[in-house]
Amino acid sequence: PSTLDLAVIPGDGIGPEVIAEALKVLRSTGVDVSTTEYPFGATHYLATGRILEQEDLDALAKHDAILLGAVGGDPRDPKLAGGIIERGLLLKLRFAFDHYVNLRPTRIYPSVASPLANPGEVDFVVVREGTEGPYVGNGGIIRRGTPQEIANEVSVNTAFGVERVVKFAFDQAEKRRGKLTLVHKTNVLTNAGQLWQRIVQAEAANHPSVDWDYLHVDAATIFFVTDPARFDVIVTDNLFGDILTDLAAAISGGIGLAASGNINPDGAFPSMFEPVHGSAPDIAGKQLADPTAAILSVSLLLASRGEQEAADRISAAVEADLAARGDARRSTAEIGDAIAAAVAQN
Ligand code: NAD
Ligand code: IPM
Ligand code: MN
Repeated sequence: PSTLDLAVIPGDGIGPEVIAEALKVLRSTGVDVSTTEYPFGATHYLATGRILEQEDLDALAKHDAILLGAVGGDPRDPKLAGGIIERGLLLKLRFAFDHYVNLRPTRIYPSVASPLANPGEVDFVVVREGTEGPYVGNGGIIRRGTPQEIANEVSVNTAFGVERVVKFAFDQAEKRRGKLTLVHKTNVLTNAGQLWQRIVQAEAANHPSVDWDYLHVDAATIFFVTDPARFDVIVTDNLFGDILTDLAAAISGGIGLAASGNINPDGAFPSMFEPVHGSAPDIAGKQLADPTAAILSVSLLLASRGEQEAADRISAAVEADLAARGDARRSTAEIGDAIAAAVAQN
């Protein structure tokens, strides 16, 4: 097999700390991999004035896949105001590489302390649309700075964009337990809501083995807490998916466990794998971050590149490590070392 050629963007804050462990675990699999590190992030921008240029996109596009830690700097820094890094780097990558599926799996491992007393068997995946919705930035400000200021955010939903992510979600449901839940807010966002409803309904006809239902997003947050075991595949809009997956991480035992893939299923561009969490400036530089989400993101990456056996070895090692976690607080590197050692042994 040929060498797996990865671009790595450690990013800011805890990003480099968790990526160091994720790479340690990746190397412990023995998979033939070459990595090229890119410095993009808030720190790089403040030092160089560069966020992400076309030539950077061209360079990244040549790799098989991208592994990203987290980006985002000090929220009080006026030079970073207006989501300049989030929009100019993270969303730019998702849009430029057409990552229309943002795949965010959640499991509650029996050994992990969930804040839910009795969650049951929880194993679902959120298929979050990744290139449309309110993230497109098709809004604007009129009469800025006056008492009459008008600030508009526009949600963009195309039949093309909704259909392709809905198809992907039905395919997932077919491979899993055959259940799909559309989450939206069709009672208020009626234009986009009708489009999503209609497309899910039409696609359902092509997947007779899949049972589907619908929840308003507010009600969905109730069930995430009271009965998360009811979910198998959830398909939803970009913003609802963002919010629901932080909640999903929290019920599963912490944001430090949640992995994700920004996927271009067509294979025209490299997919990008990253923990769901951000740069966590409140704990950065202290070896306090849990690297598990980044490590599980490597597992998703390997699976996407046909290295299923190595991917499974990582998830098994993580599961064993989670089961062995006691009250003793381990550093970021200690967790990475333990998981890498277990992967190397199996
Ligand atoms: P965050 O996810 O960085 O942090 C939220 C809370 O979770 C914090 O208390 C943090 O300490 C904790 N946390 C996060 N990751 C953890 C880990 N691995 N182990 C233990 N605790 C962890 O979210 P935020 O504070 O809203 O955002 C901080 C910055 O990160 C912002 O600039 C934001 O835009 C950016 N961000 C980037 C990404 C990304 O790069 N994909 C994702 C989310 C947020
Ligand atoms: C995430 C993050 C991003 C998002 C931000 C940083 C733009 O919260 O990956 O979940 O909203 O998608
Ligand atoms: Mn988020």
